[in-house]
Amino acid sequence: MSVPEAQPGSSSTSTAGATPAPPCTIVIFGARGDLTKRLLMPSIYNLVHDQLLDDQTHFLGVDHNDLSTDDWRKQLSDTLKELADDPHAEFHADKVDPKTWKWVTDRMEYFTADFDADETYTKLNDKLKGNAVFYLAVSARFFGPVVEKLGKAGLLKESKEGSQGGGFRRVIIEKPFGSDLASARELNRKILAVADESQFYRIDHFLGKDAVQSVLAMRFANRLFEPAWRAESIDHVQISAAETIGVGSRGNFYETTGALRDMVPNHLFQLLSMIGIEPPKSLEAEAVRDEKTRLLKAVQAVKIEDVARGQYSAGKVDGEAAKGYREEDKVAADSTTETYVALKLTINTPRWAGVPFYLRTGKRLGGRFTEIAIHFKPEPYGLFSHASGAQDAEGKGAAPLRTGGKVVEPPSNVLTVQIDPHHGAAMKFNVKVPGPLSHIGEVESSFDFKDFFGDQSNVGYESLVYECLLGDATLFQRADTIEASWAAVQPAIDLAEKGAQPELYEAGSAGPAGADAMLARDGRAWTPIAPDKQ
Ligand code: BG6
Repeated sequence: MSVPEAQPGSSSTSTAGATPAPPCTIVIFGARGDLTKRLLMPSIYNLVHDQLLDDQTHFLGVDHNDLSTDDWRKQLSDTLKELADDPHAEFHADKVDPKTWKWVTDRMEYFTADFDADETYTKLNDKLKGNAVFYLAVSARFFGPVVEKLGKAGLLKESKEGSQGGGFRRVIIEKPFGSDLASARELNRKILAVADESQFYRIDHFLGKDAVQSVLAMRFANRLFEPAWRAESIDHVQISAAETIGVGSRGNFYETTGALRDMVPNHLFQLLSMIGIEPPKSLEAEAVRDEKTRLLKAVQAVKIEDVARGQYSAGKVDGEAAKGYREEDKVAADSTTETYVALKLTINTPRWAGVPFYLRTGKRLGGRFTEIAIHFKPEPYGLFSHASGAQDAEGKGAAPLRTGGKVVEPPSNVLTVQIDPHHGAAMKFNVKVPGPLSHIGEVESSFDFKDFFGDQSNVGYESLVYECLLGDATLFQRADTIEASWAAVQPAIDLAEKGAQPELYEAGSAGPAGADAMLARDGRAWTPIAPDKQ
């Protein structure tokens, strides 16, 4: 392994003692796409920077546009520089280190090819020896056909090291994996007919986020949380992914996808799994994935009355005028696609009996944040409950319960795991307000990963690519996990398929009134969506 020396003080990940990945050719289908430019290659840069790739790593870009390797290099270099200059990008190397980036570009080759042509795969077979990872950063309609052709050409045949060809053959498949339960099953059936489950790495970039991975550590590396992490103490859980962006240039994709398919059975269910699983018997991939699947199979199929769908109309976001969804490029003027969805889910396990999980996600909302808020039950004894409206003997503050009036409980505790844009956690709890009276005040204690571990450049794909190269599938979706997720949301998909009208909400607002009403029915309210959450 001879990679450039790490730059002092700018480590992108906590890599001390990490084993470098084995030599491998990473074949990128969709080499010219946005995902490759903005996410995959920056994360490869970070891995090289942290000396986690072997000297014999190669990047073979496959796409149908006629391009030279030099043009490909140039396009990727330009995007990397743009990201480095963008203060809002997750890629925040102070500047692109030329030596590190040269290490990457020296190992790049571009191959103009048609994904549908058999000849592409024969040629690939001639180019490839040894370990290979096929990264399918392409439109979902290619997933099945590309895998079938890889299989037919013998490119997925694994052999022991030392033998002809030698090494592993793995496929990373992007989301969306299927568009409902039936199509996900069909895709699984197709790909598993040509290679083994252990060769497929179904990616969900939310699992590449450090703050998401950390939930298991928070739960199981501390004594503090786990005893209270159950129905006896938890009232409900809110999982939110609120975005200020609209669909932008993705109208085509979004029209047939919508907020539910785009975000819920994949990203939000990853968060739900981390919060909900039972302790796995080890950190081995299958032990963790078994528990995730067990949990997701216990999520009850959502009831139609527990679904709120919305679509943004024109409004103002971050002080700027924003058009309505139906005015966006490549969107039908009478589109019924939802850009917001909220669901109430129940999980049929002893740990979660009677604890609703409320999930919501939407575009063009009044604030951007992804978080999980765990709302605890009120304390059971009522020692600090007081009567509303009544004054104490001094004529100030809250009077004790015996004076009558409506009972007011101290606020319930809330633990919030912050995933984006802050990476950390905050806990709201009650203390006695300093002074002679027994008044209760709510305080908040929080941390941000960067205050303890430095501001690390993490695009989110680093650990995913690295773990795939190591053959560790913990952070990837197994066939049965994906199918369990689709099964839970299928009734909401059926509703959308029937052309049900989503409720309009103004761009820049907190979403449709129906989502608020859903929680209000249960005597609860969402965490407010406001610009100050950013
Ligand atoms: C993608 C969705 O998978 O995730 C997008 O297709 C969404 O619509 C994005 O904006 C959100 O991811 P992140 O990491 O930006 O919160």
